[in-house]
Amino acid sequence: MDKLVIEGPARLKGEVTVSGSKNAVLPILAATLLTDEPCVIRKVPNLRDTNTMLKILRSLGKCAEFDKGTVSISSTGQAGFFADYKLVSTMRASFCVLGPILAKLKKAKVSLPGGCIIGVRPVDLHLKGIKALGAEISIESGYVLAKADRLKGNSVYLGGVYGSSVLATGNVMMAATLAKGRTLIEAAACEPEVADLAEFLIKMGAKIKGHGTPIIEIEGVKGLHGTEHTIIPDRIEAGTLMAAALITKGDILIKNVLCQHLGALIDKLEEAGACITKADSSVRVRLKSKLKAINVTTLPYPGFPTDMQAQIMSLMTVTPGISVITEKIYPDRFMHVSELNRMGAHIQREGPHAIVEGVKHLSGAPVMASDLRASACLVLAGLAAKGKSSISRIYHLERGYENIEDKLLGLGAKIYREKE
Ligand code: UD1
Repeated sequence: MDKLVIEGPARLKGEVTVSGSKNAVLPILAATLLTDEPCVIRKVPNLRDTNTMLKILRSLGKCAEFDKGTVSISSTGQAGFFADYKLVSTMRASFCVLGPILAKLKKAKVSLPGGCIIGVRPVDLHLKGIKALGAEISIESGYVLAKADRLKGNSVYLGGVYGSSVLATGNVMMAATLAKGRTLIEAAACEPEVADLAEFLIKMGAKIKGHGTPIIEIEGVKGLHGTEHTIIPDRIEAGTLMAAALITKGDILIKNVLCQHLGALIDKLEEAGACITKADSSVRVRLKSKLKAINVTTLPYPGFPTDMQAQIMSLMTVTPGISVITEKIYPDRFMHVSELNRMGAHIQREGPHAIVEGVKHLSGAPVMASDLRASACLVLAGLAAKGKSSISRIYHLERGYENIEDKLLGLGAKIYREKE
């Protein structure tokens, strides 16, 4: 296993290009199961999670080729309905093959994804939505068994205790494209990745309105056809690089960015003292003067993304004053707190809040990544810290950030891999 070594402090400068969105591409790949015709998807990030989804598609009878950011999917003619635990358990997003398999093949057997380090993460909303479309569902030996001769459109409210669910909205929306009649998803997730999935489905011939809003209307059609699509830029990678510019007091031009997807983050970073210059598809980020402490609460889109909570916490560790960071989506998503404290941060956790008292500087230390965004936050801390940091378990980082070392090297960071 590799660890990532960073020699800080760095001052990042230059240009960097954001990859296609991980969270958009995963359900879009699953959606190709809704047709037997070929699909071509561009700007696909070469990540561990993307490759896991391609393995799942192959196990379900698809032929999938990945070449220089373009994925070409075709059918082998032997569509499968069984998604194995070995693959589904490694990545939660794989559960969103349930809707497409069931809609296309009238039956599906998909492993329950299980929990993960950032919280319990149930799938009740996925199952509620699929059941509302008329499927019979049972759970046996860790698998969801679903069957329905033809799904029927219905109204379904998908709001949960922690708000709407991104993947449940996608799962149910995909299933509803081939259902008989009209489906109304209320309290649908409004995330840009859900809207990108809807755009892909529309290109396949689906009839969808209202995506990007809390009410999505789907008029079922008899069949979907193949299409081509380009994935939207990854707003979380863009946000992580913006935080990198600020924590290193650098100056970065970030390309392939859609600023309209980053409203809450840009607002908070400006409040914290960032100078942000927006252009059509890029953004320049540097400090205006000194960093200022801010309070941040994560919320469903268009609120501040939970996937940026750990990175903003890193930034606040070296910001004078007290910041309160409140996590409303995953109340236990604080595994990074103790690792940041090992680097000299002063963070106290109280329930869903982290109280961060800014310190003058962090010091490099050996730390351990616990999940994808926690590993990004440790990279940021390592860039800002004095001395050498080594981050173990970086396979988490590889799940969501394409070529991140090369990108940071290009911006002047001293970063390299070592064998553990
Ligand atoms: C997606 C993103 C993930 C992001 C999250 C929230 C992908 C591949 N992943 O995950 O990066 O952190 O959205 O923005 O797109 N919940 C339930 N019941 C359910 C489903 C979810 O209670 O059936 C809860 C979750 O535990 C969580 C909240 O709802 O507290 C939001 O989760 P959800 O939006 O579903 O996250 P994912 O779609 O899995």
